Amino acid sequence: MTNQNDVYKLANGVEIPCIGFGMWQTPDDETGVNAVKSAIRAGYTHIDTAQAYGNEDCVRIAIEETGVDRKDLFITTKLWNSNHSYDLTMSSFEESLKKLGTDYVDLFLIHWPNPAAFRDHWQKANAESWKAMEELYEEGRIRAIGISNFRPHHIDALLETAKIKPMVNQIRLCPGETQDEIVDYSRAQGMILEAYSPLGTGKIFDVPQMKELSQKYDRSIAQICIRWSLQRGYLPLPKSVTPSRIEENLKVFDFELEESDVRLIEGLTGCVGLSSNPDSVPF
Ligand SMILES: NC(=O)c1ccc[n+]([C@@H]2O[C@H](COP(=O)([O-])OP(=O)(O)OC[C@H]3O[C@@H](n4cnc5c(N)ncnc54)[C@H](OP(=O)(O)O)[C@@H]3O)[C@@H](O)[C@H]2O)c1
Repeated sequence: MTNQNDVYKLANGVEIPCIGFGMWQTPDDETGVNAVKSAIRAGYTHIDTAQAYGNEDCVRIAIEETGVDRKDLFITTKLWNSNHSYDLTMSSFEESLKKLGTDYVDLFLIHWPNPAAFRDHWQKANAESWKAMEELYEEGRIRAIGISNFRPHHIDALLETAKIKPMVNQIRLCPGETQDEIVDYSRAQGMILEAYSPLGTGKIFDVPQMKELSQKYDRSIAQICIRWSLQRGYLPLPKSVTPSRIEENLKVFDFELEESDVRLIEGLTGCVGLSSNPDSVPF
């Protein structure tokens, strides 16, 4: 990747901008709207929200207020855990469209594979949701469909009934957490890996080795993390509500990490904690 307009190509040929603007924990108020407006003005064209984040409408308002052309944005939202069934997938998708102020989304993901509410029949619930998503995809109302937090056994179960393979798996990938087995398995099925929490949800800034790398390259710790993510072939989704950080997080195309430093960062196992087990999360 050489600049912020670079893209990954999904299995169906759809192009996805190589850095996405994360929105988890971004408040659903003026701060949220201003964050998305700052991101659009800084040059982000890819926005990652979710039904569960409660801030899809910030995207709509920011589009209205900046006047950006909808077709120049790549918008992702995600099916929440309470909506795993054919009918609820359909109805919650319509609600998402309304909040986002658009008649299509670029990418729709199943947020978690095994919600507590469906734990005794998650395979069937996912199969039903996926069928609904395939229909919406075939109608042109979603440009690409995918999954999030899926491990190999969840992918296998989905593929038993899927007509269309997922094009993306969005998982936690950050310094010290590379989830190689899931990455390799997802890639073998043709998926792009989106890296959530690329800054360890803000915990990375106290890690001494990252401070040293920041000095070595004369770049911020956030920039080192995002660059690392791109050099690993992931698609990072940094989140911020702070305009200067939002801009900083896109300026990662004028330097390259040495291979030994890429490996050093992967080796910081657990430095910002490890991901939750999707089969036992309490939601
Ligand atoms: N699919 C899933 O289950 C899932 C789970 C988690 C996350 N995600 C996605 O991944 C996105 C990113 O992950 P995340 O929200 O966990 O957090 P993150 O991007 O790893 O870290 C965000 C934190 O870092 C701070 N920050 C951002 N840029 C900075 C900079 N340049 N310098 C210093 N501090 C900086 C932010 O502060 P301020 O905002 O205060 O500036 C915030 O506290 C989410 O927003 C969401 O879109 C998906």
